[in-house]
Amino acid sequence: MAKITYIEHNGTEHVVDVPTGLTVMEGARDNNIPGIEADCGGACACSTCHVYVAEDWVGKLPPKDPMEEDMLDFAYQPDPEQSRLTCQLKVTDALDGLVVKMPEKQI
Ligand code: FES
Repeated sequence: MAKITYIEHNGTEHVVDVPTGLTVMEGARDNNIPGIEADCGGACACSTCHVYVAEDWVGKLPPKDPMEEDMLDFAYQPDPEQSRLTCQLKVTDALDGLVVKMPEKQI
């Protein structure tokens, strides 16, 4: 279980407990948090689950695999450091306190 803060582009914060084993994308979806569309359902094939992770979390997350890197090129205004695809981030206790911010739009 990890407490994750999702911040909409307009600044609205949602703090939710996400069970271990889900992805950060699924945590948003299951809590009806707007701003993460996840059109492909988590297959790393759409980039509409893009977020910016808080700066102090960039180095604490598992590295991006090449598929995530490639798909992020299609995201709206990706940031080389902070952008991640939430469907590729598995929730573990180590993610407790994670803060992610949604982009202005998804693609
Ligand atoms: Fe499609 Fe993450 S849900 S890439």
